[in-house]
Amino acid sequence: MSIVALAERHPVISTLSIILGGVSLLASCAPKATPGTASMAEAGRDINWESYGGDRNANHFSPLDQINTSNITRLGLVWSYDIDVGPNAYTAPIAVDGIMYFAAGYSVVHALDARTGKELWRYDPEAWKVAGQKMRASWGSRGIAYAAGKVLVATVDGRLIALSAKTGKPVWSVQTLDQDGAYITGPPWVAGDMVLIGFGGGDVAPVRGSVSAYDLATGHKAWRFYTVPGDPKKGPDGEVSDSVMAKAAATWTGEWWRYGGGGTVWHAMAYDRELNLVYIGTGNGAPWNRKIRSPGGGDNLFVCAILALRADTGEYAWHYQANPGETWDFNSNMDLELANLPIGGRTRKVLLHAPKNGFFYVIDRTNGKLISAEPFAQVNWADRIDVSTGRPVERPEARFPDGKPALVYPMASGAHGVEAMAFNPALGLAYIPKLEQQRYYGDPKMDLTTWRHAGGMAISPGVDLSTPPSKTLPPPAMALVAWDPIAQKAAWSVPLKGARNGGVLATAGGLVFEGQSTGDVTAYEGKTGAKLWSFYAQNGVMAQPISYSVGGRQYITVIASWRTNAPSGHTPEWDYHSQKRRVLTFALDGKKQLPPEENTPLPIEKDPDSHVDAALATKGQGLFGLRCAFCHGFGGASGGMAPNLKRSSIPLDAGAFRTVVREGALKPGGMPSFEELSDGELDALRHYLRQQRDPS
Ligand code: HEC
Repeated sequence: MSIVALAERHPVISTLSIILGGVSLLASCAPKATPGTASMAEAGRDINWESYGGDRNANHFSPLDQINTSNITRLGLVWSYDIDVGPNAYTAPIAVDGIMYFAAGYSVVHALDARTGKELWRYDPEAWKVAGQKMRASWGSRGIAYAAGKVLVATVDGRLIALSAKTGKPVWSVQTLDQDGAYITGPPWVAGDMVLIGFGGGDVAPVRGSVSAYDLATGHKAWRFYTVPGDPKKGPDGEVSDSVMAKAAATWTGEWWRYGGGGTVWHAMAYDRELNLVYIGTGNGAPWNRKIRSPGGGDNLFVCAILALRADTGEYAWHYQANPGETWDFNSNMDLELANLPIGGRTRKVLLHAPKNGFFYVIDRTNGKLISAEPFAQVNWADRIDVSTGRPVERPEARFPDGKPALVYPMASGAHGVEAMAFNPALGLAYIPKLEQQRYYGDPKMDLTTWRHAGGMAISPGVDLSTPPSKTLPPPAMALVAWDPIAQKAAWSVPLKGARNGGVLATAGGLVFEGQSTGDVTAYEGKTGAKLWSFYAQNGVMAQPISYSVGGRQYITVIASWRTNAPSGHTPEWDYHSQKRRVLTFALDGKKQLPPEENTPLPIEKDPDSHVDAALATKGQGLFGLRCAFCHGFGGASGGMAPNLKRSSIPLDAGAFRTVVREGALKPGGMPSFEELSDGELDALRHYLRQQRDPS
């Protein structure tokens, strides 16, 4: 049976083959140790990378310069480590005192010797066992944190766990979520004695955003700050945000609380210890369309904003809202980076922020006043940002006032996504992985007062995005842009292939590193954008590289793992089953080679019974769009985030399909179960998938 062929390619499928009576071919989990490398002893202490943002300023910048523009050609692979947990490893490692930690897939934390790649311990929170429907809208952990001998990791089901960095044993674990539909993918952030965590879910369910702080030593909750107001009939929350919720509620209309409101804190934060402030970036409104969630208009505080809170108490200090009354999913969850810049004859403490909406913001981080904002990508929803008011000068037609589709630049995935922006303070340049893309936005064709979230964790934006882009529109275009935040203009820009590329690392060696959709990890000269070095990683790279030193030797580490639901543009496609998810570590004079490349998609097997019922297939298409396309892509041809179902033999076999889709046989590998699907619906899905496989 062809499932055996699959089992040979993927350890989790072998579990399925046991369930289905096939042959078990459990792949070895043993890590491959590589010999240690001699230290190039150098004066000074080792430099760690302890948080998602790397340094205290969350700049994704390393002060190390042993690897620099003059010797970069000597950079080579020192060790690699094959990751064997699913579903993906779109995640950034940290490195502390010679040990590298990362969370792959559903937050399975690994500790490796940073010099050799030898595995020291692993901790699996077994999130798939308890996550239920939350698995459906999620894709694993993007990062972790370290403080005071503890590795901090959050799970999709909402736990925040502190592990002993030495042993990997849990020290404490706390459930941080109390709302259906809320789930965590972002890194925890340490601020003094606290660890902060938010969550996502505003795209899929009526979720109300908040951020919570826990005592680093004990895991006890210290404070919670809600980012949007709740149901006024319920009265105050008894949380520190109560002091500003009346002010926030005055900017909402209608019965917004029915839809949750959104404003989730699902990714970026930053901490200024001198000012005792934490900065949090808030998400889009739930749903995206303001006409639904707040039909009388209003700014809808605090969606799509930056909030500054006192780190120890959570008290409100200030806010800056990038998109008042936001309606396009232009959230402010992207990086918040601290810098001290000479502006107007004095040094200003600023925040640098390049959110989805395409403007680059420089904000005074002591008081939230906007200093400047200019577009770093093509933008047509606003003409400019008025610095005196801090508000965008919007183009009214971008809000599709009559409900009919309006073409908006950028689109919901943003001119800048979660892929990290880096800032080199010495060169004064920020490096943004930029995406130029547009989309038609319109109202759903229905009475908007009757709109509700679709349920079952399906993406529910409340806008109609179905108008296909006209053929005359340019295809998505990526670039790595070096941005001067003082002059507010690009210093250089390098066009890149594909519709998605990796996050960025900048170093004091004058270098900028980025992994790319082509499978290349590339180093550019930070000043000019000249390409200086590249390494073929045999897989697309999305997570940002990090840099640290051990025993005086500087290392660069990046995790290669490709995860999108749209075709990657790479040929052959980065195949879910056969792509090698790997930790790659480089240093000067590294000489290691990768084994031969293994990205070999399965052939599309002939369907022995190719009869497709067109009506059933149409029904299946609707179900697939709602429940499956988020991971498997439209038509089933996922871009590496989940198996390409055109190549899968499982939809050809009703029993195997039911076992996987309804009974959850592949849950440990990241395939959720869909208990609610009837036999008829499963059949419709199979007809659709078989039609896609062979459209004739
Ligand atoms: C949250 C992401 C996600 C969603 C949503 C999702 N899947 Fe999956 N699916 C996966 C992943 C990841 C795997 C691979 C699991 C493994 O190999 O361990 C998978 C595997 C499968 C397989 C086995 C493919 C093979 O040959 O290896 C089938 C069939 C499948 N999914 C069908 C569906 C259908 C039908 C839906 C919608 C009802 C759906 N999936 C929704 C992530 C998802």
